[in-house]
Amino acid sequence: MNHISWQTNAIELLDQRLLPQRVEMVRCATVGEVVAAIRSMVVRGAPAIGCTAAYGMVIAAQETAGLPSPMALKRLAEAKHELDAARPTAVNLAWATQRMLLFAAEFTAQHSGLQTNTELAIALLGEAHAIMAEDLAMCQAIGSHGAPLIPVGGRVLTHCNAGGLATAGYGTALAPIRTAHAAGRSIHVWVDETRPYLQGARLTAYELQQDQIPLTLITDSMAAYFMQQGQVDCIIVGADRVVANGDIANKIGTYGLAVLARAHGIPFYVAAPTSTIDLALPNGSAIPIEQRSSAEVTHMSGVQIAPDGVHAAHPAFDITPHHLISALITERGVVYAPYDTSLTAVMNCEPATKSVNMA
Ligand code: MRU
Repeated sequence: MNHISWQTNAIELLDQRLLPQRVEMVRCATVGEVVAAIRSMVVRGAPAIGCTAAYGMVIAAQETAGLPSPMALKRLAEAKHELDAARPTAVNLAWATQRMLLFAAEFTAQHSGLQTNTELAIALLGEAHAIMAEDLAMCQAIGSHGAPLIPVGGRVLTHCNAGGLATAGYGTALAPIRTAHAAGRSIHVWVDETRPYLQGARLTAYELQQDQIPLTLITDSMAAYFMQQGQVDCIIVGADRVVANGDIANKIGTYGLAVLARAHGIPFYVAAPTSTIDLALPNGSAIPIEQRSSAEVTHMSGVQIAPDGVHAAHPAFDITPHHLISALITERGVVYAPYDTSLTAVMNCEPATKSVNMA
């Protein structure tokens, strides 16, 4: 099933809030509905919200279809602002809306004779489809580059959901796991449940089970125990933003895992496409951290688990400093420290990455 698809003037999204119990679709026909779907996590995961926002820009263009061209660019700039504000940490959102806005500006400049914006909306739809297709291809390439990092019989720990549901398909952190499994390698995945939103328990466990990849679900607090027992060979997580010095933002709890990995001598890998790399920010302290509602911590699946009146903190992401990261797995290859130079090189497509092809 397509979890993000374009259906005649609207986006259809698989409601990830309901998985794995229920499979239901949500239709978004206005920019406001797209913003609400991203904010309420009907769709989540950095590349997936970028793809969704790209279609949101198509909807914005359609709203101006009968109007003169300059109106479209004005409306698209407003829509970008609204969409970018839906969730602040993942850079893929602003990356995708910026790409759509630039595309619209170029298209409008090249087609100055057009009376209305109908053609612009059609062209933007093509660009949104291209962003989806490219994201899927990037994830598959991350799989090819990352799979050799997993040892034979490897026991891999992952956090949150950086799988197909979090991308256009195939995933980032789950991509090397999928590729190694598809190549017949024996593999086992420790899945952190990922409190408070349970992306691990609900989504990663669901995806791995569908692909028949062996997994064991653990609570977040069990990760240290299994590392101490020598039962974790490597950790692979996704990222919401990778900045110039190699610091990364990812789901709350990621930083703790990286510290534990270092303490136990376990490689800690971050898998992310170049659309997640933001060289404009110098280090992780500049990344905005989304603060979500207290109720997402005090309640689980609608059931209150804390006393009345208790306030819970809920930073949705944390920053892992670059010195704890063994390597970054991108679609262009595996990137090692010093990240301030290797990330610039990978963004400029220079062959300064070390990647190994699977035998
Ligand atoms: O709050 P979420 O579920 O959107 O957080 C998702 C993550 O932190 C993922 O690890 C990240 O976006 C990478 S997804 C390929």
